[in-house]
Amino acid sequence: MTAGKPEIPREGNLYLLGFMGAGKSTVGRLLAETLRRPFFDTDRLVAEREGRPIPQIFAESGEAYFREVEADVVREVTEKERAVVALGGGAVVRESNWRAVSASGTTVFLQCDLQTLLDRLVRTDDRPLLGNDDLASRRERIARLLREREPLYARADFTVGCSGLPPQEVVQRILGWLG
Ligand code: S3P
Repeated sequence: MTAGKPEIPREGNLYLLGFMGAGKSTVGRLLAETLRRPFFDTDRLVAEREGRPIPQIFAESGEAYFREVEADVVREVTEKERAVVALGGGAVVRESNWRAVSASGTTVFLQCDLQTLLDRLVRTDDRPLLGNDDLASRRERIARLLREREPLYARADFTVGCSGLPPQEVVQRILGWLG
C-alpha cells in the first residue's frame, strides 16, 4: 500500500452518497460483495417498510412524509456495523441525517458530471422529484438540484469521479483508493 493512503476503515459503515443516477445502489452492492460486508440501500428500506414503491409514496403521501420515513431508516442504518450503505440522493440534505451518517462511518461521494446524469435520468420515470414534464424542464430541474446539492455531497470524506464509468470500475477506484 502507498504510504499515506487511507485504509478501508475496520470500524464503522461505508456510505455512498451522490445524486440520483450516480450508481450508488449498484456500486454499493458490488462493493459490499467484494468486501464481504452487509449491504443496505435506504431507498429500498423505505419502500419495504411502506410496502409501496417510492413514486407511490411521493404521490400518495408527499415528499415531507417520505423524508420522515427516510430519516428513520437512516437512523437505523447508522446503528449497523461495518455495512456498506447506499443513501438516497436527498438523504444528506437533512442536517441531522448528515450528522448521524458522518459520525458513524466513512462517506464516499460518487461524483458524476451533469451530462452523465442527464443521459441516465432524463427519461426515467421512477424519480418523482424530477417530475413528468417535458425533457427541457427535466434537464433544467436536474441541473438546478445538482448545483444545490453538490456542496452537500462534497462534504464527504472521499470523492470518486465516476462519469461514464461502469460500476465495476467505480468499485475498483474506491478499493484502490481506500484500500
Ligand atoms: C431522491 C433520490 C432517490 C429517492 C427519492 C428522492 C432525491 O434516490 O430517495 O426519489 O431527493 O435525490 P436515488 O438517489 O437512489 O435515486
